[in-house]
Amino acid sequence: MARPRVLSGIQPTADSFHLGNYLGAVRQWVAMQETHDAFYCVVDLHAITVQPDPAELRRRTRIAAAQLFACGLDPERCTVFVQSHVREHSELAWVLICLTGMGEAGRMTQFKDKSAKYGEGAASVGLFTYPILQAADILLYHADEVPVGADQKQHLELTRDLAQRFNHRYGDTFTLPKPAIPKEVEKITDLQDPTSKMSKSSSSPQGILDLLEQPGPLRKKVMRAVTDTGSEVVADEENKPGVTNLLRIQSALTGTPIPELEARYAGQGYGTFKKDVAEAVIETFTPIRERTEKLLADEHELDRLLAIGAERAGAVARATMEKVRDRVGF
Ligand code: ADP
Ligand code: NA
Repeated sequence: MARPRVLSGIQPTADSFHLGNYLGAVRQWVAMQETHDAFYCVVDLHAITVQPDPAELRRRTRIAAAQLFACGLDPERCTVFVQSHVREHSELAWVLICLTGMGEAGRMTQFKDKSAKYGEGAASVGLFTYPILQAADILLYHADEVPVGADQKQHLELTRDLAQRFNHRYGDTFTLPKPAIPKEVEKITDLQDPTSKMSKSSSSPQGILDLLEQPGPLRKKVMRAVTDTGSEVVADEENKPGVTNLLRIQSALTGTPIPELEARYAGQGYGTFKKDVAEAVIETFTPIRERTEKLLADEHELDRLLAIGAERAGAVARATMEKVRDRVGF
């Protein structure tokens, strides 16, 4: 039987992915290339909803792509591409925008969160229609599954509604995607503020571990991670969120179950434990950083890899759009 097709995207909105992106997304993508017909894209069209500087966008798009390959995505086993290299994303988005009700779009809660930092009415219409572009990303490839976190469930529902509406109005065209049940990835939290998630928009750079960081700063950040006044290395989300986060990180990176880690560090205090967490992070990140740097230094090789992805994705997208154009009456 054919493998289910999966589509997932990541925004090029930082100079490096962080540990949360790695454990919560990219590492799963690497696993899924073995079980799925996987399409992964660096969603630079989404990134312009917040109007980045052009040179910065271009740089970050390449860094993001290089990191994906460096993390183990293999063009022989999956399709990695840059969204803007496949023009059909924008074209399908327009068709879907015309199928979306104003009220329906207005119910997307993420817009309310994301636009809050802008003045009244100052967020772009692109930020408002972002979930519809996301629907186009998914439907273009007839994805069977989409890995979704809690904050994306509503967008996938919209995607399914739009697919259904299009199929009803114009004839059967799109596959209705299902949410992929991602292996339970608990949120990695900020090292300085262990009750909120590690995020590129964290208030302090000391709270996030970047994939492209050098061993020295990585070690320092882990050693200075906020823990608590006790000394026991035990998981206790309520009273010891900092230690619990470090246990989760150590467990995810080494494959050792948390109870085994608790037993190993019993009676040893935080020092030895943190040193080991730092080493696990450094051991994971260093080869990824080195491969990323190598790929970024070799422009032609990165272009070549991205051209393979654009070609493969483009072929699927063009076939879908040909059908869509015909059905819509173009
Ligand atoms: P950020 O929160 O830094 O802006 P994004 O929202 O761009 O990151 O997330 C990209 C991907 O990484 C998503 O799939 C998201 O679920 C995952 N991710 C981001 N932060 C974390 C985290 N702290 N823990 C686990 N997964 C995360
Ligand atoms: Na985010």
